[in-house]
Amino acid sequence: MEATKRRTPEACEFMPSDYFDQLKVEEIFGNDAPIELDLGCGDGSFLIAMAKQYPERNFLGVERLLGRVKKVSRKAEKAGLTNCKVLRLESKYVVEYLFPAESIDRLHLLCPDPWPKARHHRRRLVQQDFLECLHKAIKPGGEFCFKTDHPEYYEWVCEEMDTFKKFTKQEWNDDTFFYPKTDFQLQWEAEGKSMHQLRYSK
Ligand SMILES: C[S@@+](CC[C@H](N)C(=O)[O-])C[C@H]1O[C@@H](n2cnc3c(N)ncnc32)[C@H](O)[C@@H]1O
Repeated sequence: MEATKRRTPEACEFMPSDYFDQLKVEEIFGNDAPIELDLGCGDGSFLIAMAKQYPERNFLGVERLLGRVKKVSRKAEKAGLTNCKVLRLESKYVVEYLFPAESIDRLHLLCPDPWPKARHHRRRLVQQDFLECLHKAIKPGGEFCFKTDHPEYYEWVCEEMDTFKKFTKQEWNDDTFFYPKTDFQLQWEAEGKSMHQLRYSK
């Protein structure tokens, strides 16, 4: 039987050597600098801007669409960034299986699909089982940042976090720290929608 060919990774794409084994986080960037994950990074503007602003930290975007992965990788390569990579994989799998316990410094979930129909709510990423995995993977003192334009998903996340109890809610204003707007946020604000944001620490 012919062996399955492995796709050649883009220049700034990270492909784990074994997708079924936990990562050694230092292998991603070749150092042990703090690492931040952007789940569903889209076209990567936020990820790239963060990597430029914080050269002493590492940024890994997670995105399932190949076209977007290629775009992010090209942007990071063009900007000459050595602290920014993108991983083509499903977000929950990355948090649940790939990252070891207490390995992530900050996790961003920005403008995720809100799955507005009631019968699709179970597809929402923020649920108790995801929060359990997230809590395990985040370092003590690490953070989870969430943004949505969808009022009902915002309420849902507030309730899930309240039920979960193990994270502590933190203040988050626009001047709390450097935090660029994502492509979707800019698009939605241009359409007159307002954003909701939440920040929690472990
Ligand atoms: C609404 S877009 C937001 C993109 C970006 N965060 C922003 O704010 O501009 C959601 C992104 O998440 C990706 N995505 C959705 N579900 C995913 C999953 N389960 N795993 C990885 N990426 C996912 C989509 O392909 C899309 O690029």
